[in-house]
Amino acid sequence: MDLNKLNEVGFLDMDIDPSIDLFFEINKLKKEKNAIVLAHYYQEPDIQDIADYIGDSLGLAQKAEKTDADIIVFAGVHFMAETAKILNPKKKVLLPDLKAGCSLSDSCPPHLFKLFKDKHPDHLVISYINCSAGIKALSDIICTSSNARLIVESLPKDQNIIFAPDKNLGAYINKETGRSMLLWNGVCMVHELFSLEKIIRLKSRHPDAKLIAHPECEDAVLNIADFIGSTTQLLKFTEEDDSNLFIVATEAGILHRMQQNAPAKTFIAAPPDNACACNDCPHMKLNTLEKLYLCMKYEQPEIIMDEDLRVASRIPIDRMMELSRKLGIRG
Ligand code: 13P
Ligand code: SF4
Repeated sequence: MDLNKLNEVGFLDMDIDPSIDLFFEINKLKKEKNAIVLAHYYQEPDIQDIADYIGDSLGLAQKAEKTDADIIVFAGVHFMAETAKILNPKKKVLLPDLKAGCSLSDSCPPHLFKLFKDKHPDHLVISYINCSAGIKALSDIICTSSNARLIVESLPKDQNIIFAPDKNLGAYINKETGRSMLLWNGVCMVHELFSLEKIIRLKSRHPDAKLIAHPECEDAVLNIADFIGSTTQLLKFTEEDDSNLFIVATEAGILHRMQQNAPAKTFIAAPPDNACACNDCPHMKLNTLEKLYLCMKYEQPEIIMDEDLRVASRIPIDRMMELSRKLGIRG
């Protein structure tokens, strides 16, 4: 088998013996190879269940930074695995499907962002972690949805700031902090599709339900939300809040964990604008348990980075990690 080719095309065409117990085999590979499986809440339930750690983007980066495993298997999307590689240049970082990208990250190409940044030389650049290493290298500080507000607030009030790439998160932070950061015009294809009209109808049918939303959602949805937070913060809220019914405006994969952690409560996925299953992220869902097994077995596809880019993109990530430590923020 040509492993280089495999790294390019992925495992799509490979057959797996259907009698294999994938949970058993993956756990065996973890031990044999001293590998850790990190997964985001938007992964399919089986992947969440076999992961050693599940978290939001900050939690995953913090876990990746301090793991002593030799191999990090990242069940998430490319920018997340790339961040793990940036923090761990000596470790092998694997992503079950190399094509698992992110519409938000794609909406901010480095060459166009550089032109934008050059027009505002007196601005500091804060970038949401959902971006490529190329954008990170052009940024001063990285943030995630769980620390964005505190990171912005840690800067002097009169500091001019560019916020990229998510205009919805940026607008939300502007509103919360009273700043007027310049926003890059990027959005997440999943979070911008929730239908305000359908959510309002759902709320009127279930007056006791609390609407919880990720800050990547549009302003109109955030305005009527009872709680706004990163995936980990949303999960924690559903565990601790007295309510028994939640309408969840984020990618539907997190409902699996919410239901596991609070089995007596009811969770309704917020409806998207049309009839499709648009609150499933098509990028996140490219990873499957089969691909996870194959990627651990063959140690492919691997995240490989240009060293200069890795070093440059690490600087703003380190600033975020340091600020998060100082401010006591955990993902
Ligand atoms: P968090 O898990 O950090 O809230 O991010 C959500 C997301 O969209 C990841 O792609
Ligand atoms: Fe990107 Fe949105 Fe998918 Fe997250 S949910 S990976 S932001 S497209």
